[in-house]
Formats: sequence, C-alpha cells, structure tokens
Amino acid sequence: MRVLFVSSEVFPLVKTGGLADVSGALPAALTESGEDVKILLPGYPEAIKASGAKKSVGSLGDPFGLGAEVQLLSGKLPDSGVPVWLVDCPALFERDGGPYQDLQGRDWPDNALRFALLSWTAAHLCTEHSPVKWRPQVLHANDWQAGLAAAYLQAWNVAQRPATVFTIHNIAYQGQFPPEMVARLGFPPEMYAMEGFEYYDTLSFLKAGLFYSDRITTVSPRYAKEIQTPAFGCGMDGLLSYRAADLTGILNGADYQVWNPATDPHLDHPFAPGDAAGKARNKAALQAELGLAQDPDAPLMVIVSRLNDHKGMDLVLAALPNILRLGAQVAVVGTGDRPLEDGFRAAAAAHPAQVAARIGYSEPLAHRMMAGGDMLLMPSRFEPCGLTQFYAFRYGTVPVAHATGGLADTLVDTGYDTLMTGKANGFVFEHCNAGAFQWAVERAVGLYAKKDQWTRIVKACNAQDFGWSRSAALYRELYKSLAGNGKGKKK
Ligand code: ADP
Ligand code: GLC
Repeated sequence: MRVLFVSSEVFPLVKTGGLADVSGALPAALTESGEDVKILLPGYPEAIKASGAKKSVGSLGDPFGLGAEVQLLSGKLPDSGVPVWLVDCPALFERDGGPYQDLQGRDWPDNALRFALLSWTAAHLCTEHSPVKWRPQVLHANDWQAGLAAAYLQAWNVAQRPATVFTIHNIAYQGQFPPEMVARLGFPPEMYAMEGFEYYDTLSFLKAGLFYSDRITTVSPRYAKEIQTPAFGCGMDGLLSYRAADLTGILNGADYQVWNPATDPHLDHPFAPGDAAGKARNKAALQAELGLAQDPDAPLMVIVSRLNDHKGMDLVLAALPNILRLGAQVAVVGTGDRPLEDGFRAAAAAHPAQVAARIGYSEPLAHRMMAGGDMLLMPSRFEPCGLTQFYAFRYGTVPVAHATGGLADTLVDTGYDTLMTGKANGFVFEHCNAGAFQWAVERAVGLYAKKDQWTRIVKACNAQDFGWSRSAALYRELYKSLAGNGKGKKK
C-alpha cells in the first residue's frame, strides 16, 4: 500500500513533542511490515540537513506567489531509512526558532501560509501535476498543520483521489486564522461554511481535517470517546459525535530502538530492564548530575514534559511542599509557560538537595531521567495518549498519573488486588486536583518503602509491551479498508 504520511515534525529530524516520535516510528513500523510509506514534512534547515536531502526532485511552482519556486527535496530518516520528502521554501521555513514559534515563544505570524503549503504539497502530490510519479493510495495527515490537505483535494475535485485519514494528536491545537486566508490560500468561498472549514468566524485547519477526511483517528481509544464530549472536545465535540462512525482510537506505541535501557547511548550505565542494581547506578548518577542529595532511599520523582496546565504542572507545584515533606526528590526537565518554569526554578533554588529543574529541551537528559527516576509524574488534565509512560515502563520507572486519555488506557492503579495479580503498573487518580494527585504520590511513596511490593510493580512495568507492531497493524487494517474506494468525502 502506498501511503503519504504528512506531519509537521518527525523524530529525529525535528521534534517538539510526541507527534515527532509517532511520525518517525509509525512510518518505520509500517515500512517494516511491507507498506510503501513516504513522509512529507516542511523543509526546516535542520531537517533537510539531518535527512541528507541534497537535491530537488522536482519543482512545486510558486503556489502562494512568494516570488520563488518551491522545491521538493528527497532524503531519508537516519536510522530506519524511511524516505522523506521535504517542502523546500526558505522564505517560510528557513529562520531561527522552532517549527511553530520564534525564539521568544510567539507563533510565527505566517503560520497559515507555512502549514497551508505543507497541506497544499501533500494534495498536489496526489494529482497528475505532481513532479514525481509515485501516487499515494492513502493520504494520512496529522494534526492541524496538515489539516488542509483533504480540503485541497476537495477544492480541486481531484478525479482519482486517495483515501484520506486524519489523526488528532491533540485537539487543543486547532490552527485558526482570519477569513481573509480562505482566498489567499486558494480556496473557493463556499468552503468557508459551517458545512466546511469555517469555525466561529475563522478558518480552522483542524476542522478542515475533521470535515473533509474519509476517516478520523486519534491516539487512544479513551481519547476517541472523550473528544466527543464538551469537556474534552475543545468545541469540536459536535462534529466528532456526528462523525462518530468514522472515528477510531488507535493507541500509540513506543520506539524500543530509541528507548531501550540496555543499549541507550545517553546512559553511562546501560542496564537490562529488571536489573535493579543497574537502575540504582543510574539513580546515583542522576542525583550527582543534578546536584541532588546522594540518597539511594529517597524516592526520586522525575518529570519529562512540556510545562503547561494541560500537563497539570501547576498541580505539581501546588503539591510540592507536601511531596518534599515525604522526603522525596523531584527532578524536572521541561519547557513551557513562564510562570511554571519560574515556579520550578524557584523550588530548586529553595531546596537544591531535593528539587532540580532543568528548564530546556534535552533528549539525553530525558533518557537519563527515565533511567534514574523511581517514579514519573504525569498529572495531565487531558492526555490524548502520552508516550513518556511507555518509556518509563521500559526503564522501570513507575508512572503516577491522572486517569485520562491514553493514560487511562495503559495504566493499572496499584491496589490490593492488582498488586497481588501482578497487574499494578502505576498510581492513578480519577479527579484532577492537587489533593488527589498528592494522595496518589503518597501511596506511591508508601509502597516504595516496601521493597518486595515495589519490585512487583516495577516488574509489571517492565513486562508491558507497547511496541509499534500492534498499532501499526491496526493502521494497516484501516488503510486496507479504505484504499480502493478512495473517492474522498463528497459533500
Ligand atoms: P506531548 O506530545 O503532549 O508533549 P508525549 O508524552 O506524547 O506528550 O510526548 C512527549 C515527548 O517529548 C516525549 O518523547 C518526551 O520524552 C519528550 N519531551 C518532552 N519534554 C522534553 C524535554 N524538555 N526534553 C526532552 N524531551 C522532552
Ligand atoms: C500529542 C499529545 C500526546 C500524544 C502525542 C503523540 O502531543 O499531547 O498525548 O502522545 O501527541 O500522539
């Protein structure tokens, strides 16, 4: 099956979060199982470089009148060798800063053009005007940045269009832009309607993906249900309930090539899952690296996360004084909202032996945190899937998490029964507030002191298998059920 996988970030070329991990690993798993997958992403300079893309494989013209021809470059993902195409348009992508924001954390003012160009290119590659011969049978677009791809196919009334799949990784990010962009991006005015991509007087890239794609998926079964409710749907719950028959939740996987404590190049002391002495060495090393007290018995709680309210980081700060009174240590690597960054910095300054805050993005430190921590804190208010709990499992680090989205689908709370049956793999709380979170932390600390019981939980964590093959098989089934009747959604 020929699949064009469209994403705004792909590990290890460019990453701000879990979307990149999925966009690197899922195409690799699909390729391994025999599918013909090509990834399409924006031509950020670092991605062009890391993919080894050197020369253009064809011109895409100048669809938005920017004064220079856009080129399609071809490269490969470094480890898996999956082919990648990059949309080379220096006017839009060659700049200092992140994929979505400038160095000050402000959204790029021309994000509508930048990601419309990504979507436009995806759709263009499905037409006879494509500069390359390869035509996808399935166009799989991810998140709002790729949301307009199916809308372009609709607007152009492409005769033999591929089947379209749109995956929601996080419905809170929607890509809303002023109505003037409708014409600027080349759409006919009639698509700017309730039965189209109009959303409260804006052009919504997310709604375009939800409305015009044949099938919608999201990254866990629980989140697929949640987003059909007003509490989690971020305004799209009505449309999603209407499209419920076309919506499925497919749980993400973990890339165990990248997240394997036995071969992890970021660890000074690689260890096999289940090797308690090896884990202890990593804990001591992490305490030393972060300047925490060298105490093997203090429960070390780690956080590897964007720092914002979605991730419940305000709850961690609220519960922190009580957590520290329990004798625990807390280590954070993350970036995000300024007040939360400052809050963690201040806590670390006030309690240097117990709290460490590394405000920033560091892939190596993220790995060492997973290896050295005893518990991973994830009090997310919502969590479409969450990947760090999978990594924590492999590294014998026990998640303490809110029962939402993919966390609810993958964690089994520790209670008498689940402990005895060997199923308990975390500490889970139902109501998302600081008190409930703190109580889960207290339960974790209580059991941490009972070594034989803690060992049982760690063993259950190590035994979890969330490799990509199972999820990739579900995507393949979905593609197969669609390909062949790729008429697209006629409205
Ligand atoms: P989300 O995509 O919502 O941020 P996920 O749990 O799906 O959440 O994925 C987060 C990914 O980003 C993981 O690979 C995690 O290790 C990584 N990550 C998050 N913050 C940092 C950071 N500050 N440094 C390094 N890696 C980080
Ligand atoms: C989003 C979600 C996260 C999910 C990731 C990959 O960033 O917030 O829960 O794991 O996408 O699908």
